[in-house]
Parts: sequence; structure tokens; C-alpha cells
Amino acid sequence: MKIDINEIINSAAGEIAAATLQTLPELKLKYLGKDGEITKILKTLKILKPDERKELGQKANEAKKIIEQALENKEKELSQKAIQEKTASQKVDISPIFYFPVNSGHFHIITKTIEDISQIFISLGFKIAKGPEIETDWYNFQALNHPEDHPARDVQDTFYLQGSKDLLRTHTSPVQVHVMQNQKPPVRVIVPGRVFRNEASDASHSSTFHQIEGLFVNQNVTFVDLKSTLASFVKKFFGQNISLRFRPSFFPFTEPSAEVDVQCFFCGGKGCGVCKQSGWIEILGCGMVHPNVFKAVEYDSENYTGFAFGMGVERIAMLKYGIDDIRLFYENDLRFLRQF
Ligand code: PHE
Repeated sequence: MKIDINEIINSAAGEIAAATLQTLPELKLKYLGKDGEITKILKTLKILKPDERKELGQKANEAKKIIEQALENKEKELSQKAIQEKTASQKVDISPIFYFPVNSGHFHIITKTIEDISQIFISLGFKIAKGPEIETDWYNFQALNHPEDHPARDVQDTFYLQGSKDLLRTHTSPVQVHVMQNQKPPVRVIVPGRVFRNEASDASHSSTFHQIEGLFVNQNVTFVDLKSTLASFVKKFFGQNISLRFRPSFFPFTEPSAEVDVQCFFCGGKGCGVCKQSGWIEILGCGMVHPNVFKAVEYDSENYTGFAFGMGVERIAMLKYGIDDIRLFYENDLRFLRQF
């Protein structure tokens, strides 16, 4: 029997080259399987003479390796190609999803301004406190040292609840009283909240608006603490280069009292329509807590002092963002809201 191993290798190489992933296993059987061409040769070895056996054995084993390698390479090649074809055919074009503008919502500019202001005071060690929007006369006025005949109590300014002495708070200051009743000094809080005044609305007045109150009570709190706290707030909120000034003022619940003006950033202090030619814009009221307020909450005014301040959120947002009509905040015109 004359066996041409090279011929087997050649025919295997030709068939493997033309194979597919489906036919490859058949070829493996055909050449290397139990009854495969190469296996058959190896099985005949034992009937050969020793020198023939050695020669043919070597050749057959080489052929086996060559065919094995060829099968393996082909399988790698074919399966890689299959993966490529599969991924190419399964590609999904997701770009149309992004053709439509994504309308994500965002916070209202008032919420954002409250958040920005609060963050600055939180960084200075203040905690946030909240209080009721419906108040008694005592919390809103009496405990805050308003004399019985104070004009703010007038029905002109205050919304009273029908058939009751209760009212919608006209400022966030009554929350000072709640906080001090519930807690001993040291007290360091800010109070964001809605307030209500019985006023006709125009470009700078609204019957509902927002304030942020501040209160700091401890031993040895002085006007210097008030000034440095508010100065650092103004610089952080409006910018390092903005100057501010404290102007003497009056509030029943603080003594001494002041109002803080910031240099007009529309004209840089030269004088313009916004600052009514004064170069300054008022942004908040403040002062040292009046001893009568401490008396109302049973704090010892010999031992403790404190400062308080209150600012209008809308007013501050209007100044910061150059908004000229307070009513814009409540109309919910998306063309306005989307700007912030
Ligand atoms: N409650 C005052 C107002 O509404 C502001 C203020 C708060 C003033 C705290 C001094 C201290 O105008």
C-alpha cells in the first residue's frame, strides 16, 4: 500500500480553506476522527516494518499537527468573522433619540435664590428653621415688641383670618420667637419662608412674597458680629468687589436697628434709575435683638445678646438678575422662567 500523506494534507488544506463554521466539524472527523484519514494511517502502523513504521509514523503525526493547526486557525477566523457580521447587522442607530430637545425641568428662580442664600449662611454655621404661615397676633406682633397701636397691625397691611384674630404672617420674624421658645442659646438659624401683606400689587409689590430671616443669640454677641456676618454674605452673594453700608433705621424688635445698602451694581455707584440716583440699593433690615423680645421668650437679656436680620428674596433676585417687575415671578411664563 502506497500512501501519499502530502496528498492528504493538500486535500485537507483545500477543504478547510473552503469550509464554513457548519462544515468544519465534519472535516475534523474526516481527517482526525476515529475513522479519519490520518487516524487510519496511524492504526496501520503496527503492521509495518519498524523502519517503515518510523518514517510513516513521523509523517502522519506531522500531518496530524498541520491539519489540526489548519482547522484551529480556520475556526478562529470564521468565528471572528461571524461575530463581526453579527455586531454589524445588530447595530442600532440611536441618534434619532437625540434629535428631539430634552425638556428637563429646573427649580424656580425664587427657589434657587433661597437655596443660594441659604447655602452661604449654612457655610457660616447657621441651621435652617421653619415656622407656620398662619400666626397669632402675639407671635407676629406682641412678642416682637410691636406696640398695641402699631400701624403694621392695621387691616390695611395684615390679612386677618375671617372670624378669628389669627393672621397670615407679615414677616418671618415670628419664627425667631418660636425658635427661642424651643431652644436655649446658642441659637444660630436662618428662616426662609412665605409672607403676606395686604397690598395692591405693582412692579415692586406683591401680596405674597418670600423672606429669609436670620437670628444669632449667644453670650457676647455684638454689632461687630452682625456687620461681619452680613458683609461676608453680601460679598459671597453679590461679589467680592461690592461695597455695603449700614444705615441707621428702626424696627420695634431690634435696637439699635439698621438697613444694609449695597453699592448699585447697575451704575457702579455713580447713580442711575435703579438706585434712584443715590448709588446705593437697600437689601435688608437688621439689628440687635430688643430686650423685650428676650423677655417674651424668657431669655435672660442680662446674660445673652443677639442679632437678627431679614431680607426679601424677590427683591434680592430682582437686583441680582436685573428683573424689573416682581409679578414676573408668579405668572409662570415659561419664556421668563427658562432664562434662569
Ligand atoms: N421683619 C422685618 C421686615 O419684614 C425685617 C427684619 C428682620 C428687621 C429682623 C430686623 C431684624 O421688614
